[in-house]
Amino acid sequence: MADFYITTAIDYVNGSPHIGHAYEKVLTDVIARHRRLMGDRVHFLTGTDEHGQKVQQTARARGVAPQAFADEVSAEFRALLPRLEISNDDFIRTTEERHKRVVRDILQRLFDKGDIYKGEYRGFYSTRQEQFLQGKDRNPDGTWPEIFGEVSEIVEPNYFFRLRDHQAWLVDFLKANDRYIFPQFRQRQVMEFLKEPLNDLCISRPRERLEWGIPLPFDPGFVTYVWFDALVNYYSAVADRPGLWPANWHVIGKDILVPPHAVYWPIMLRAAGLELPKGILVHGWWLTAGSKMSKSAGNALNPLDLIGEFGPDALRYFLIREMNVGQDGDFSRELFLVRYNSDLANDLGNLVNRSLNMTNRFSGGTVPAAGVGAQAEDEVRALWEATRSEYLALFEQFQFHTALERLFAFVRSINAYVEKRAPWKLGKSTDPADRALLETSLATIAEALRLASVALRPVMPGASAKMAAVLGSTPRGTWTEELAWGDSLVGSRVAASLVLFPRPLPAADKAP
Ligand code: ME8
Ligand code: MG
Repeated sequence: MADFYITTAIDYVNGSPHIGHAYEKVLTDVIARHRRLMGDRVHFLTGTDEHGQKVQQTARARGVAPQAFADEVSAEFRALLPRLEISNDDFIRTTEERHKRVVRDILQRLFDKGDIYKGEYRGFYSTRQEQFLQGKDRNPDGTWPEIFGEVSEIVEPNYFFRLRDHQAWLVDFLKANDRYIFPQFRQRQVMEFLKEPLNDLCISRPRERLEWGIPLPFDPGFVTYVWFDALVNYYSAVADRPGLWPANWHVIGKDILVPPHAVYWPIMLRAAGLELPKGILVHGWWLTAGSKMSKSAGNALNPLDLIGEFGPDALRYFLIREMNVGQDGDFSRELFLVRYNSDLANDLGNLVNRSLNMTNRFSGGTVPAAGVGAQAEDEVRALWEATRSEYLALFEQFQFHTALERLFAFVRSINAYVEKRAPWKLGKSTDPADRALLETSLATIAEALRLASVALRPVMPGASAKMAAVLGSTPRGTWTEELAWGDSLVGSRVAASLVLFPRPLPAADKAP
């Protein structure tokens, strides 16, 4: 069994989770569940990023201590995970001692080697916002926007990490591993960025300016810059679990690839003498009305509202079906309802319930054996064989949206098959040939639905388990074995009925 270690970004605790955060967890969860089904020993890490200026400021604005504030928001992120049916094995907080210890070790190691040196940081500083500003923060006319208040140029001592010394190595590494970053066009963006010489990275903040951070082990007058602290979580969480490092994939959003994950992190690891993760998977953004959904923009949708209304499976399905991994996608309630009604309630949910009803009415609630099939049955099986091999291949390539598109085309073909065979008509006939065809059709529908339920397991674990249960199926083999057309359902008792995805009430009929 191979170890497979996968991580998400750790979320800042300066605001509540939104659909973007939920998506990243669900995407990573689909991969984790897929790898488990393929027989890997998976370790799935997620967590919260709790130090730094933003958290200190937000806590101060609310009049609470940073630790108390971080405790509260971290708990909110953590509570979302079971609601989304996320199968993480660990949850790391950067305020935990197991993490801080490793950050201190790495800092000390790099300092002792000379990769960290003391220098002078020079820049424009906004006291009101308590942050250094950059060229891009200026107004077009060169002045500073109102929100920064008085801006002054200051010089302060700080510690720097020698990024530049490792630039040539990083370029060579990425050239030699041209599929290091998925999707590949993101890797080209990193190469573009690396055409310019890197500046060494300022990795400290003076204590007087920022208290909320990990003190430098070699100079307690400074705390660690939040990115240098946060990135280490991927390693600190497994530092005492031999065999897990390096991670197979870091799953992150496109805004934090360059420079933190593609430049700082590989160089930090190399300098510390640690192995590099095997790959970085970069997803796009969920947009609302064309702009990034975010805490600061105030256009964020709370995933808990949708889960409360439609359940976790429907939200997971929508996020994975609608987003092409790596691209951006639009989130709207309208789009969500279209998928919910057409794919889930109608194509899948109705079919399951109809098949249970028919098996109860015409076969005493027991799945019959299939007789010799005719062309219609051959077509369903042939389409399944094609769908199965495509589906498995698409999962390996993170093309989940296309995989689901194919699977639902198969589900619709089962619906078409039901209409064609019309078991309710065959059930009225006294002709033994019709009786045989009725049994064959009920067996074919049940088996096709079992296969759909197995295929959906990584994406909709709850709905998949319910489908298997009402069909009287007990999954035992590996995923690929279970995805093979067979007769394991013959003789099993099906449930009376199941409404998998209840039709939502039209907005106007809803109680206020
Ligand atoms: O960046 N659509 O935290 P964060 C999709 N703490 N993904 C989105 C998104 C959206 N609208 N908005 C945010 C941080 N994300 C750091 C990470 S890792 C060592 C430290 C994604 O809370 C975002 O791209 O701002 C990132 O991967 C994750 O949510 C956390 O964002
Ligand atoms: Mg962010």
